[in-house]
Amino acid sequence: MRIAVGSDHRGDHLRLKLIDHLRRLGEEVVDLGVPANDDTDYPDVAETVARQVSRHEVDRGILICGTGLGMCIVANKFPGVRAAPCFDDITAELSRRHNDLNVLCLSGDVMGEKLADRIVEIWLRTPFEGGRHARRLQKVAAIEQRNGAPPAA
Ligand code: RB5
Repeated sequence: MRIAVGSDHRGDHLRLKLIDHLRRLGEEVVDLGVPANDDTDYPDVAETVARQVSRHEVDRGILICGTGLGMCIVANKFPGVRAAPCFDDITAELSRRHNDLNVLCLSGDVMGEKLADRIVEIWLRTPFEGGRHARRLQKVAAIEQRNGAPPAA
């Protein structure tokens, strides 16, 4: 899988560890988050990663900031992007089974490296269930379009 990864300054340490882990797992990493200073604005990084996911230039994205929340708010502005913060095994698994999550948001402030590795592995290997969940995501896409977004690519 081709995965774009970005962070602000508060997610920098976790991003570097996760990239190593993803590469060990055999994934192709596009490292987009290189904070230029101590005060990177999370919208700038999230926009770059989410745009690539929205345009299918990568299969998935991972975004890390202090909480994971700001990144998530920005990423969900892009058509076809389904971003959410995950904090444990259950949210990681259900984010894939039910929501077909294509952008994983993580907290650099509170999440340890081992937990982040575990969440990412679950998120990578868990399939989308489809069925009634696909119907619901079609409704999400229809809401996007009714509110001005172009159809997802
Ligand atoms: C940066 O101080 C912080 O606001 C950011 O990393 C993130 O937590 C925003 O949601």
